[in-house]
Amino acid sequence: RKRVAVLISGRGSNMEALLGAASEPSFPAEIVAVISNREDAAGLGLASRRGVEAIAVPHRGHADRQAHEAALSEALAAHAPDIICLAGYMRLLTPDFVAQWQGRMINIHPSLLPAFPGLDTHQRALDAGVRIHGCTVHFVTEKTDEGPIIAQAAVPVLAGDDANSLATRVLLAEHKLYPLGLELVATGKARMSEGRTAFSDPADASAEQR
Ligand code: GAR
Repeated sequence: RKRVAVLISGRGSNMEALLGAASEPSFPAEIVAVISNREDAAGLGLASRRGVEAIAVPHRGHADRQAHEAALSEALAAHAPDIICLAGYMRLLTPDFVAQWQGRMINIHPSLLPAFPGLDTHQRALDAGVRIHGCTVHFVTEKTDEGPIIAQAAVPVLAGDDANSLATRVLLAEHKLYPLGLELVATGKARMSEGRTAFSDPADASAEQR
C-alpha cells in the first residue's frame, strides 16, 4: 500500500472520505499522517480520533513561505509518504515544493476545471449561469488549479440553488471522487507524463466510469 499524507486547513471532510476509503484493506493506499497549517483545523481532531497521526505545522511564526515549507517537509519526512493529498489545504505552495512532489501530489478542487479556478467557485458558477458544475481531482503543478486532470464528477445546478446548497451537492460528489482519484494514482493507473495525465487503462479516462 502506498503511504499518503493529507494536508488540510479546516473541516477535513475530504480527508475523512480518504480515511474511510483507506480503512478498506483492499484500498491501495494508507493514510500515514494528516498535517494542517492551522492548529485549530477541525480535521486534526477527526484524524486523531480515528487513530491517525495528526500534526499542526502552523504557518504563523515562520518568517516566510519557504521557512514554513521547511517545517512542513520535516514533518512529512518523518512519515515518509509516497503521495501527498491536498484536501482543502488553503495555502499556496512554492514552485520548489511543488517540483519536489511533481506527479506525487494531488488536489481536489470544487469546480469542473478549467472552469472556475481559485476561490468562491460555487457563487461564480451560479453567477455564470452554468447548468452543470462539479469537482476535479488533479495533479498539482506550479500554476494553481491548472495541473493535469485525473478525475471529475458533475452535478446539476438546480433552480433555487444558492452557493450553500450547491456546495453541499458538490461536496458529496467530492467525497466519492477523491478516493477514486487517489486509487488511480496509488495503483499507477493514472500518472503524470509530459504535463498530461497518462492512463494505463483507457476506461479510467472515461467520464462514464465516474
Ligand atoms: C472542499 O470543497 C475542497 O474542494 C475545497 O475546500 C473544501 C474543503 O472542505 N478546496 C479548495 O477550495 C482548494 N482551493 P473539507 O475541509 O471539508 O475537505
